[in-house]
Amino acid sequence: MRQAVGVSVPTFVVDSRAEAEHVLAGEIADLLRARPEAVLGLATGNSPIGVYRDLCALHAAGEVSFARATTFNLDEYLGLQDGDPRTFRRWMQTHLFDHVQPRSTNLPECHAPLASADAVAVRYEQALQAAGGIDLQVLGIGLNGHIGFNEPGSTRTSRTRVVELDQRTRKHAVRVFGDLAQVPTQAITMGVASILDARRLRVLAFGAEKAEIVRRTLFDPISAECPATFLRGHHDVKLYLDAAAAELIEDSALPS
Ligand code: GLP
Repeated sequence: MRQAVGVSVPTFVVDSRAEAEHVLAGEIADLLRARPEAVLGLATGNSPIGVYRDLCALHAAGEVSFARATTFNLDEYLGLQDGDPRTFRRWMQTHLFDHVQPRSTNLPECHAPLASADAVAVRYEQALQAAGGIDLQVLGIGLNGHIGFNEPGSTRTSRTRVVELDQRTRKHAVRVFGDLAQVPTQAITMGVASILDARRLRVLAFGAEKAEIVRRTLFDPISAECPATFLRGHHDVKLYLDAAAAELIEDSALPS
């Protein structure tokens, strides 16, 4: 693992994706051993899937317990039926929760029929605060620079709320939903401020398709046009990249 120099976020380029997954799963396990009642912030998507696989393995080996842990996920689609296999709730059950059984798992429960999504969002933010905030937040970065579903235009002070999904985000989700018309147009997401309140942020980006957004995250002006740039203000953030995702970071920043 090599650390980039002179970049605005502590950035680690790993030899393989598995190395980053192993390091982050190990950090989460260490946190749970030191503080069994820890509050974990979790993300769905391709980026963290191997971290969850490693955590399931550690749990199966008896090396970590989630019995007193609480989790909060970043986001959830709005308007799907409860139990729909395409909800992030189902995804989390399949990839982590069913295996490790945390004491309490939270996602914005915004399934149809729904009276007031705005009220769900407000309650979610309140629950996050009442739990004492997030000890460690796992994050991926969307191709348009979103974190959670904080699409371009999301401000630094935004909190958990209903959002309209960006066209690029919806097109990306066609791989799950089959065709664009099936992809929800709205979601509930933790806000940028809700995410930045986490005591640690651990960000993963793998593969060549992430190279451009990684470059923008590290080098573009900090602004709502690319919400991932707000990560640069955080006091304890680490970014893990594989070689392909680090491709557009200057060679001078990456000592061999
Ligand atoms: C998704 C999710 C985010 C996720 C990001 C990156 O749409 N809303 O929580 O971190 O986009 O996803 P992936 O890791 O699959 O590239």
